[in-house]
Amino acid sequence: MFTTALRPQTPLPSRDLPSDLFEAINALKQKLNAVILAHYYQDPDIQDIADYLGDSLGLSQQAASTNADVIVFAGVHFMAETAKILNPDKLVLLPDLDAGCSLADSCPADAFAEFKADYPNHLVISYINCTAEIKAMSDIICTSSNAVKIVNQIPKDQPIIFAPDRNLGRYVMEQTGRELVLWQGSCIVHETFSEKKLIQLKIEHPDAEIIAHPECEPPVLRHASYIGSTTALLKYSQTSSSREFIVATEPGIIHQMQKQTPTKRFIPAPAMNNCACNECPYMRLNTLEKLYLAMENRQPEITMSEEIRVAALRPMQRMLEMSA
Ligand code: 13P
Ligand code: SF4
Repeated sequence: MFTTALRPQTPLPSRDLPSDLFEAINALKQKLNAVILAHYYQDPDIQDIADYLGDSLGLSQQAASTNADVIVFAGVHFMAETAKILNPDKLVLLPDLDAGCSLADSCPADAFAEFKADYPNHLVISYINCTAEIKAMSDIICTSSNAVKIVNQIPKDQPIIFAPDRNLGRYVMEQTGRELVLWQGSCIVHETFSEKKLIQLKIEHPDAEIIAHPECEPPVLRHASYIGSTTALLKYSQTSSSREFIVATEPGIIHQMQKQTPTKRFIPAPAMNNCACNECPYMRLNTLEKLYLAMENRQPEITMSEEIRVAALRPMQRMLEMSA
């Protein structure tokens, strides 16, 4: 099983790096017939050089349809692993193999197998933020952008386990009116927002709209006028008539929001402590330098057993069919 161990970053020797990383990465892209897929929580430089930037659903759809020989995944481990599940014959690179996810780590495979055994008649719907082993034990995968749509397609008399994020699970319960058995996992980044500080910020910016990712806890979601995946939040910030937004998700997305609508103002929702803990420490392990080195050295590569991959592919394909 892949688990996350956050290690202090070791500085890379600058003598090994070309002076223009953008140019060098673009040259390697041609040479390898590679595609760079990046999530909105990546550093601005990485967002700017990516061929495709998206949320977990968009990234999976791109990974499922790419003609490239090499997929460079600028995101976290479960995202790159998903690309490998869909593309067993392609080389899938992750710039830093330690880029894990606290939510995926909150659902270990052995404990989940025991939990699942207690509900033999339940269908298992798992949020894509989980390991390949958990996907292999699931019936359908979902993301934050299609979870409600997928649950709504399941017959009302079919009981469901929803894993691993309890906050997204609670949100889906509210939106669908369904009872779900929830695995009690969560994301350290989205649980860090402070309701008290959010209210204070809203008093200081009375015209700002609060928009939030469904991984946030209920006290924060309660104040949001719009809740959605990262792509949905980005689109909403473009179409809403508001000029100012308080954004309750990882602040990497603000780079894209600001780029799309430079005349609007985007304020990151405040964390409980005076820290930068609203930045995902795993996503931020990837840097432009590591992206270049991964392409140059063709590693770190994502690998997994064929047995797990085949079992994890089935629920992934169901998700792609159900969200078409
Ligand atoms: P999205 O589905 O919006 O990409 O969310 C992924 C994620 O990791 C949120 O923390
Ligand atoms: Fe995982 Fe949370 Fe980081 Fe998303 S923000 S990758 S859920 S730790």
